[in-house]
Amino acid sequence: MALEMRRNQGKNGIGLSNYDRVCRTDDRPWQRPSGSPSATNSKNRGDQASELLLDKTSPATVRKRDSKQKINSPPHGCLGCRGIATMWTMKNQPVPGRLIQRLPKKIQRLLRQVGALADEQGVALYLVGGVVRDLLLKRENWDLDLTVEGDGVAFARLVADRYKAGLAVFERFATARLVFPDGLKVDIATTRQESYAQPAVLPTVQPASIEADLSRRDFTINAIAVQLNQRQFGRLLDPYGGRRDLRERTIRVLHAGSFQDDPTRIFRAIRFEQRFGFRLERTTSRLLVQAASTNLIQRLSGPRLQNEILLLLAERDPVRALVRLGQLKLLRFLHRGLCYRKDVKRTVTAVPKALTWWVSRFPDSAIDRPIVYLMALSSESSPSVVATMIRRLVLSREQAKKVSTGASLVDRALKSLTKEGTVRPSQVYRLLEDFSDEALVLLLAKKLSKQQGVRLSLLRRHLTAYMKNRTMKTALTGRDLQAMGLQMGPQYKTILGKLLDARIDGMVTTEAEERAFVQERLTG
Ligand code: CTP
Repeated sequence: MALEMRRNQGKNGIGLSNYDRVCRTDDRPWQRPSGSPSATNSKNRGDQASELLLDKTSPATVRKRDSKQKINSPPHGCLGCRGIATMWTMKNQPVPGRLIQRLPKKIQRLLRQVGALADEQGVALYLVGGVVRDLLLKRENWDLDLTVEGDGVAFARLVADRYKAGLAVFERFATARLVFPDGLKVDIATTRQESYAQPAVLPTVQPASIEADLSRRDFTINAIAVQLNQRQFGRLLDPYGGRRDLRERTIRVLHAGSFQDDPTRIFRAIRFEQRFGFRLERTTSRLLVQAASTNLIQRLSGPRLQNEILLLLAERDPVRALVRLGQLKLLRFLHRGLCYRKDVKRTVTAVPKALTWWVSRFPDSAIDRPIVYLMALSSESSPSVVATMIRRLVLSREQAKKVSTGASLVDRALKSLTKEGTVRPSQVYRLLEDFSDEALVLLLAKKLSKQQGVRLSLLRRHLTAYMKNRTMKTALTGRDLQAMGLQMGPQYKTILGKLLDARIDGMVTTEAEERAFVQERLTG
């Protein structure tokens, strides 16, 4: 039997994963006719959002209350949702529109305009998910997720047409992504319910009310909506106590099967817990530990696991999240044999400091931060363990190359670069020329982790010199060598290499000196 579930497609700052692509498609177009009873209901609902409650028996049924706001459980039974909303909830009912004012003016204007468009179409339109949570937390997030009680894809087409925005439609899941001419990205979905044929598989979706849509989501803090239709602009829908949990810094699932149906939520819970410094509500924590102890995560597809791991490692400070993964023994899902020993922990812990130094020195270097952490994490594991981990996470070819070569290169170079005696700049160049920037950061992190500060400044000097030297070029080219009478053959590479070394070491500085340098080698 299908497990009743509620969840939205994943989306991230790293780009759409396969999972997202699949999740964002549906070919079940449906449209609630403009002015139909349900459309009108939706509007009324939004209009009275602050006073409305879900009826116990039906998520879509709402009733109005006058004084105390009672929040009933969602259809599946919200964990720990208290019966009576706190006075705080009532007193702090934001003035409609106020929350939206925290967005940049341009986005506010756009939301008002699409709200008006929704009215024209007779559909209810909401801003949902992470952006609402972050507006309430006063955190910057312009990652707009809109949801339509009606045909989300048809509405997205209309918006795209009106604003000349790029449109990618994922029919199967009734979602679309719009890219506005100024680069702003907006996801538009149809409010839906989801059911899972089995744990950890992708859900099938069915149109549903906004309340049912909110109830299928991962945590109460992500199950808040703001209506955008003109008359209800800015009204909050918070049927499951999301604002209370935000205030109490709590992460709470909406139903007991949440982690089972969608084990990616285990990682999401850890991510939000660490990002916001929140704690898991007791039952949620128990459910998470339970789910983490099973093999559910093993069932996740490579792209979905990759998405979660890279998102977690892309957090500003992923070290504590990694500690949590370690405590919960979740790293076994990357590879059972992954060595998460003390020295690895020390390297991982040193990565933020290494990154800070690196970014301040070389702001133009585009570092793939999650990959640095992954390299640090696997730095003491055998090549075969690393290779299996790479396959499990279906890393891109470029990422795979970085992760598989990083650790071995680093160990070798670290010895040479921190030993007594002089190392010529050209020797440093030759030692590091095959390094990715991520491997250079790992090199520094390793040094930092060894707690022997003596040679740290020396290593930093080497890195600084190397970054300057790596763009250095010789004035002479192969063509010049040919003109100077050098026979074609492997000696071209050797001589040009030696010439570059001489340039880097400052032995030759002009073209004339380079010519003399080459001439000497040709005749001598
Ligand atoms: N969602 C969910 N279950 C998931 C993934 C997403 O219920 N496994 C819902 C949540 O309501 C979430 C919304 O979809 O807020 C948008 O998902 P996403 O953009 O991935 O998450 P955000 O909450 O916006 O997180 P972030 O700030 O990290 O982007």
